[in-house]
Amino acid sequence: MFGILFASFESMSTTLTLTFKFLSENPRVVEELRVEHEAIVKKRENPNSRLTWEEYRSMTFTQMVVNETLRISNIPPGLFRKALKDFQVKGFTVPAGWTVMLVTPATQLNPETFKDPVTFNPWRWQDLDQVTISKNFMPFGGGTRQCAGAEYSKLVLSTFLHILVTNYSFTKVKGGDVSRTPIISFGDGIHIKFTARA
Ligand code: HEM
Repeated sequence: MFGILFASFESMSTTLTLTFKFLSENPRVVEELRVEHEAIVKKRENPNSRLTWEEYRSMTFTQMVVNETLRISNIPPGLFRKALKDFQVKGFTVPAGWTVMLVTPATQLNPETFKDPVTFNPWRWQDLDQVTISKNFMPFGGGTRQCAGAEYSKLVLSTFLHILVTNYSFTKVKGGDVSRTPIISFGDGIHIKFTARA
């Protein structure tokens, strides 16, 4: 039961809450998101039509914001794998049958790959190549057991951002302290004031 709730509910709600924290603390990011999404709306022949797949695929900066949120948040503290045969790591033998925990935050917050790793900076993704990304960024795990909801989650987060920045302005009222026990929690929560945009 914990696994089901963690996979589907906790992961998305925590990521969205963190998105609000990062955006309300970084107004320049909101401005650039707004430029991207207002351009999408402007290009539509029918202004009331729904978001299309092509529009989603054109959201370059939005993808950087989603990646940066997932990189810093490290929703799962690690991935588990079972050693199928003995293998060596730096002179140590990991015996077959042992469970290995891959601590993904160690790579996602590695200052050698991600300069100032705890600074929320979506623009850093412009300078990262695909090989570096695939080896150091695994918010949804990897291999055959990769998160079944990975693409769906990115689509939901991007759609959410589209509706948010085109329809609302928002500011943080209070809160936003984050702790890990080992899942992420928000102490007194994060209080956001929304205003509908004309
Ligand atoms: C931001 C949101 C999410 C994050 C960061 C996330 C992350 C992860 C990670 C790290 C794993 C383990 C992968 C591995 O061991 O290689 C996982 C597994 C899984 N996730 Fe997600 N997840 C998210 C959202 C979702 C959603 C929305 C769903 C369902 C709709 C979902 C369904 C699953 C399932 C079914 C597995 C188990 C896959 C398997 O073992 O074969 N996840 N997720």
